Amino acid sequence: MKHLIVVAHPLEDSVTMKLARSYTLELEHLGHEWVMHDLYRIGFDPVMGPNELEPRAAHLEAPGDVREAQAAVAACEVLTVVYPLWWASMPAILKGYIDRVFARGFAYEARGGMTRGLLTGRSCVIVTLSGSPFALLNETGEWQAIQALQDVHIFRSSGFTVLEHLHFGMVEPPIGAGTLAAQTGRMRDCARRHFSSARVSSESASSESP
Ligand SMILES: Cc1cc2nc3c(=O)[nH]c(=O)nc-3n(C[C@H](O)[C@H](O)[C@H](O)COP(=O)(O)O)c2cc1C
Repeated sequence: MKHLIVVAHPLEDSVTMKLARSYTLELEHLGHEWVMHDLYRIGFDPVMGPNELEPRAAHLEAPGDVREAQAAVAACEVLTVVYPLWWASMPAILKGYIDRVFARGFAYEARGGMTRGLLTGRSCVIVTLSGSPFALLNETGEWQAIQALQDVHIFRSSGFTVLEHLHFGMVEPPIGAGTLAAQTGRMRDCARRHFSSARVSSESASSESP
């Protein structure tokens, strides 16, 4: 299968980046094709330009970086997004990526207040990290908000089948080698769970307490 991994973290040696790399190693081991869009290293510009909102109406093409990113999304069978929770949301660079790349006419159509996802036939795995333990996010209702606003409103509404939302709580660097090994192990298990037979399992959005 063809995988696109979109990852957002400024530090290359962050837990976020280490998890993303261990996931690609496992995909490779399983015989899958993958491409990683490492938004900070690419220098992805998250700021939408004035001509981007209705490029079709103005007979304008989307900017080159957006067209390239959209081509990668269109070509993938599975999109995996990996990011830390910052203020219970995604880092601004990833929000800007969603704003610009998941554009109207590409990711969704809107009519009469209703939207229809256009990226159907693709699966999605969401991987998040937080400083707080999962139990606290769950208890305060933040987890439910995160799922409603990110899993459902962004990815499912765009047409993806969300296979899993894997969450790593209590990630407070520096973390020890043993903890890191357990975390990368969970990440590799996630890849094996869904893709070991190159077959996408049926939809099962799930969260795991750390
Ligand atoms: C700007 C910023 C905002 C953060 N907001 C939250 C938050 O709302 N909830 C939370 O549990 N952790 C929050 N954290 C902690 C990060 O989620 C945590 O440090 C990170 O997931 C650790 O992984 P890393 O080593 O890959 O950065 C925040 C960290 C930063 C830098």
